Amino acid sequence: MKSLLTAIALTVASAAVTAAESATKNAYVGDADQGKSKSATCSACHGSEGNSAAADYPKLAGQHASYLASTLRAYRDGSRENAIMAGLAAVLSDEDIADLSVYYATQSVSSGAVQPDLLERGEQLYRFGDSEKGISACAACHGPTGAGLASAVFPSLKGQWAGYSETQLRSFRDGLRMNVMMNGVAKNMSDADIEAVSSYVEGLK
Ligand code: HEC
Ligand code: HEC
Repeated sequence: MKSLLTAIALTVASAAVTAAESATKNAYVGDADQGKSKSATCSACHGSEGNSAAADYPKLAGQHASYLASTLRAYRDGSRENAIMAGLAAVLSDEDIADLSVYYATQSVSSGAVQPDLLERGEQLYRFGDSEKGISACAACHGPTGAGLASAVFPSLKGQWAGYSETQLRSFRDGLRMNVMMNGVAKNMSDADIEAVSSYVEGLK
């Protein structure tokens, strides 16, 4: 009887340890120093602190860790398609993803500029959308200053290269990048709308 109780107690205790271990594992939030040392391969394209040199490569600096991690997992599992990033993400562990995401989130994004002739249309779309065309206001999700919302996994857009945002908006519109919210937002946007709002968000600080 005593040994049975001991056995039960041991089983309960070891189940508790397993639960605690898996809670710790799920709660792993990443380590910026580890992320920095793992970012050497990334910096060739994304810049040494996540501020890339040109629009072919998105800036990662200052982006929310929640979004960076979710998008790296999406490249890894193929739900976001890109030949370059698929190959790179394939070899990242969950821990690598957490470390890299926290590292880039703690850097500061370099500022960009809006093209003066695109300011008016860009600002109108960003702040108010276009109800006649069925385009939602970007600010509703990405925030008045383009900072996004980490808890909702709405990415920060401010300072991002206009050329990169344009490519992404066309991909959402054309169904090459899938996200229910953004596919709906982009589907009624013309190329001119996309160019204007992308320039506007590059200038947000
Ligand atoms: C050879 C160039 C190259 C290298 C090296 C590279 N990337 Fe990328 N990365 C890209 C390109 C190009 C894109 C845009 C892809 C697209 O349009 O989806 C991108 C996109 C991303 C995005 C999405 C950004 C966003 O705003 O949605 C993240 C996150 C990212 N890379 C992280 C990394 C990390 C972490 C590493 C290092 C492990 C890395 N990249 C290495 C070229 C590169
Ligand atoms: C209902 C909420 C919502 C609205 C409104 C919205 N967005 Fe988004 N946006 C998102 C979400 C969520 C994502 C991340 C999608 C993903 O994870 O692939 C996103 C992603 C993006 C990206 C890609 C960012 C990157 O780093 O790759 C761009 C660019 C963008 N949005 C621009 C806009 C613009 C411009 C508008 C207004 C015309 C807008 N969004 C309106 C929710 C929204």
